[in-house]
Amino acid sequence: MSDRSLLAIVLAAGEGTRMRSSLPKVLHEVASRPMVAHAIATARSAGATRCVAVIGPNADAVEKVATRAGAEEIVVQTERLGTAHAVLHARDAIAAGFDDVVVLYGDTPLVTPATIARVRAELAAGAGVVVLGFRTANPTGYGRLLTDGDRLVAIREEKDASPAERAVDFCNSGIMALAGAHALSLLEAIGNVNAKGEYYLTDAVELAAARGLRAVAVEGDEEEFMGANDRVQLAACEGIWQRRRRAEVLASGVTLVAPETVVFAADTEIEADATIEPNVVFGPGVRVAARARIRAFSHLEGAGVGEGATVGPYARLRPGAELGPDVHVGNFVEIKNGRVAAGAKVNHLTYIGDATIGAKANIGAGTITCNYDGFGKYLTEIGAGAFVGSNSSLVAPVKIGDGAYVGSGSVITKDVPADSLAVARGRQSVIEGWAAKFRRLMSARKTPRPS
Ligand code: UD1
Ligand code: CA
Repeated sequence: MSDRSLLAIVLAAGEGTRMRSSLPKVLHEVASRPMVAHAIATARSAGATRCVAVIGPNADAVEKVATRAGAEEIVVQTERLGTAHAVLHARDAIAAGFDDVVVLYGDTPLVTPATIARVRAELAAGAGVVVLGFRTANPTGYGRLLTDGDRLVAIREEKDASPAERAVDFCNSGIMALAGAHALSLLEAIGNVNAKGEYYLTDAVELAAARGLRAVAVEGDEEEFMGANDRVQLAACEGIWQRRRRAEVLASGVTLVAPETVVFAADTEIEADATIEPNVVFGPGVRVAARARIRAFSHLEGAGVGEGATVGPYARLRPGAELGPDVHVGNFVEIKNGRVAAGAKVNHLTYIGDATIGAKANIGAGTITCNYDGFGKYLTEIGAGAFVGSNSSLVAPVKIGDGAYVGSGSVITKDVPADSLAVARGRQSVIEGWAAKFRRLMSARKTPRPS
């Protein structure tokens, strides 16, 4: 990639009233990742040497998410006086001197690093300002890109545009790159004499042209620049994101039986030759190894699935579930914070929470680890090759030794030594002939009248 230094400035001070939400707009999620984190991740993958997020006042949650996503610096824009005003909040970083400065929006989550690379290529070729544009059938509301041949002459905001300018269908995505050497002086020259009385970042184009700097527009796909201002657009962004990721996952050698029914998170990792059956949902933090099979209607988050393992149908893996190679987890099984070693089987109707299960252990149908007493969580340790009979309750903290058997229906409260049998349930008693006698007695009586 480019060896030029890159400063990314992510604008995230929007209130997002149209979301009708108590959550700041940029924290709404696409693919289980807040939108602002998408913008920062894109900046990072595009090679940002430094990333500054401009956030609104009282937005501690945005600050946290942006920092976690990799922004080194957070600046607060207390008054929203326009996009140029927002960008200038990163003044110190801009003044520190970067080859390239790229401005991204925190509510525009679909932009790809490859597109940022195209913009940077124009800067590398000597442009002073580069704007990402797109053509659309419905340009209302967007700034229009006014071009002369391959030069970008100006960007006209909707409210300031003449009828002829409004007829232009080439629009500003909002993503703009500036040559680092000129960025600060261009931004400082921007005024607010316009229809909205705002400091428009878009004015950098005309100012650059007046200084003999080359301004250019790079055209991209409308879909990529879609922003999410309300829930309808958020859902549309999600749909586009999922469609793209399905295509990538298929191309990488993963089988998706019904791709359109599978939902991924931004950080889902699936190795080639895994198979994902229909209606599987991946929450954040899932890794699936080669040749694993995730069967229909399973829900996974914060979990690892080992090579050749099978999960589901109808299984739920929660954070901390780690399945080794060739593990079988079957229908209606929930695993939370549980390590299941190679070849172990947990096939039916089971809850495993805060537990370790040794290699090749067999956990019978309906087994429950009782890990919680209303106050604390406790560990259940099940050894390699152990066999837990159906419908057993393992009351943690408790250990089942290697190769031990637990009789079905047991409530195990004490450790079970290796290779032993533990049975903890009422003993069966049998009274011969009792049922027949009972039936005779009852049918000899008159049917009692209901009172
Ligand atoms: C802006 C562009 C317009 C472009 C459109 C694409 C300008 C003047 N106009 O218009 O050409 O077609 O985006 O969506 O740049 N923000 C701040 N602080 C501010 C103002 C804005 O952080 O003071 C952030 C917003 O939260 C948002 C982004 O910058 O993420 C764009 O601001 P917005 O007010 O939505 O700009 P538009 O009028 O849509
Ligand atoms: Ca907007």
